[in-house]
Amino acid sequence: MAALLEVEGLVKSFGPVDVLHGVDLALAAGEVLALVGDNGAGKSTLIKHIAGVYRPDAGEIRLEGRPVRIETPGRARELGIETVYQDLALADELSVGANIFLGREPVRRLLGLIPVIDKARIRGETDALLARIESRIPRKAKTVSRLSGGQRQAVSIARALYWQAKVVIMDEPTAALAVMEREHVIGLARRLAAEGAGVIYIGHNLIEILEVADRVSVMYRGRIVHVTNARETNQQELIKYMTGFTEAAH
Ligand SMILES: Nc1ncnc2c1ncn2[C@@H]1O[C@H](COP(=O)(O)OP(=O)(O)O)[C@@H](O)[C@H]1O
Ligand SMILES: [Mg+2]
Repeated sequence: MAALLEVEGLVKSFGPVDVLHGVDLALAAGEVLALVGDNGAGKSTLIKHIAGVYRPDAGEIRLEGRPVRIETPGRARELGIETVYQDLALADELSVGANIFLGREPVRRLLGLIPVIDKARIRGETDALLARIESRIPRKAKTVSRLSGGQRQAVSIARALYWQAKVVIMDEPTAALAVMEREHVIGLARRLAAEGAGVIYIGHNLIEILEVADRVSVMYRGRIVHVTNARETNQQELIKYMTGFTEAAH
């Protein structure tokens, strides 16, 4: 069986700076795969290739077994790849509902003829969705710019749930969150996987990583150096790989 998402031999340099040195990664539907590594290891650069932000110098990305060229974030979304960032993913000046339906607004026909955005449907679906993720976000919030960090994450995640994203990328989703919000976001990551998505979860809190992930991959200086089941590892082992300590032992 083909993995949901496969990355093979991904290479990327920015000018003279070699960031990715041939990264291999496989993600299955229904799992949370954590990606850990020191600052500067290349985690964000890697996932930005999957999110359509960067194009690789070499290597291949396959979705459901087929090679894909993910040339823009819009193309990523069309392919069913959603990204949850702290800041980037939402349109600040729009409402919660408008953000969830951005670019994919339902349309009704006035007098059976003139297409107009179906605002009542957006309101109804947004209410149902926010109830489903047990979020306390006021659906009527005029703009998402007024929401807390955790609420913004929840809006991104709600969008991924609603559109049944195949792949959901979460790059340090809890970095700036209070404890309660953090637990909620972790629960939502598990929820996405339970509904069949493959989730790539970047984080640096190893306690949180071992709680949320099915598998953990460790990145060190532009390479994935270790992949393990979350149940078969611990913080000490992960730190060894994150700091390159294992290389010195060879
Ligand atoms: N646009 C860019 N131009 C030049 N160097 C970059 C760029 N983006 C990232 N880098 C460099 O690539 C390395 C990996 O960065 P990044 O992927 O953000 O790491 P991580 O997310 O693991 O902390 C760092 O050394 C960083 O300075
Ligand atoms: Mg990063």
